[in-house]
Amino acid sequence: MTHTETLQSSGGDVRLRGISKTYGSFTAVHPLDLTIPAGSFFALLGASGCGKTTTLRMIAGLEEPTTGTVELSGRDVTDLPPYKRQVNTVFQNYALFPHLDIYENVAFGLRRRGIKSVKKQVEEMLDLVQLGPLARRRPQQLSGGQQQRVAVARALINHPEVLLLDEPLGALDLKLRRQMQLELKRIQTEVGITFVHVTHDQEEAMTMADTVAVMNGGRVEQLGAPAELYENPATTFVANFLGTSNLIRAGVVEAGGAELLLKAGDAELRLPARRCSAPARSGGQVLAGVRPEKVALAHADDAGTIAEGRNRLSGRIKDAGFIGVSTHYVVDVPGLGELAVYEQNIERDGRLVPGAETVLHWNPAHTFALDAEQDRQAGADLDEEAA
Ligand SMILES: Nc1ncnc2c1ncn2[C@@H]1O[C@H](COP(=O)(O)OP(=O)(O)O)[C@@H](O)[C@H]1O
Ligand SMILES: [Mg+2]
Repeated sequence: MTHTETLQSSGGDVRLRGISKTYGSFTAVHPLDLTIPAGSFFALLGASGCGKTTTLRMIAGLEEPTTGTVELSGRDVTDLPPYKRQVNTVFQNYALFPHLDIYENVAFGLRRRGIKSVKKQVEEMLDLVQLGPLARRRPQQLSGGQQQRVAVARALINHPEVLLLDEPLGALDLKLRRQMQLELKRIQTEVGITFVHVTHDQEEAMTMADTVAVMNGGRVEQLGAPAELYENPATTFVANFLGTSNLIRAGVVEAGGAELLLKAGDAELRLPARRCSAPARSGGQVLAGVRPEKVALAHADDAGTIAEGRNRLSGRIKDAGFIGVSTHYVVDVPGLGELAVYEQNIERDGRLVPGAETVLHWNPAHTFALDAEQDRQAGADLDEEAA
């Protein structure tokens, strides 16, 4: 699809300096420094109540910060009202005008500014969100996903430098949400402006964003590209909230070299020293982490065939859930607890059923280590919660 350059706007960068929000004695957002580069797709990810909407509203000018400043494209806008900022917001509940058709909903921002000849721009916008043929329908005659696209078109026609999206897909069912994620990503690439997307859905954030900021309790806990966050979580919260992690309490046997040597229960584990984000000293403790999909499962009878040099733990299968593309195992490892293992459905070993004695094994390079002075369960089972 091609569009004329009228659709292309330049994105603006967003710079937050020491921005915070307190309500009485409660701090919703702790002093936050954040730079969102122009033209990027940026996600604020976190569980319900962690301060995402408050942060977004401070950028939009809908909420006055308790401390700190907001800059858009290098200009301090902290004291400007929302309508004087080059920012538009798309909310979860679309807020379309029910008495206007789609065309007029999209034209609204232009008409309000007294612009008479709206046809070309409205048609381009409808084209961008692929709703041209539905221009004369009313909002209630559209599906949820179509209404969402109208809301995006209605915001984009004002040529904001930054588009803020607050859980814009939250009202859609899963399949439509996945479809709209790709659609929004395409639109952002096409128009090139800065998108700041708020979501509690970690898959959504990872699918769409160039950079994800994981928020927890009013703070940004870690920020980075999706793969970077997933592979190198710096805290137990990020390790558990972004996908699933096995976090194994282990003692440090040997530190200082290129490899860290750990002891977990009776087993020795190794990992590259650079993948340890905690200060590791011999005699200290860390949490050794490994993602379930990195772990292979062998029947105990085949333990002898496992290649040398791999990390290995012995345990008994407690549960096996066949998903289709994969099987999710829960394995009880004596002294260490339950570990998750995801096995791709390639050649299934019929002996790997609940009760079977197994060996879990993985490449030491796929192990990371975190500071043991944290709640091992932080962030687990939060991602399904509605925000
Ligand atoms: N106007 C308000 N008065 C008091 N507390 C508020 C107000 N707005 C938000 N909060 C509180 O601030 C915290 C963060 O809210 P919010 O930014 O909406 O979280 P999120 O969008 O991440 O779910 C929540 O605990 C919420 O109850
Ligand atoms: Mg919210």
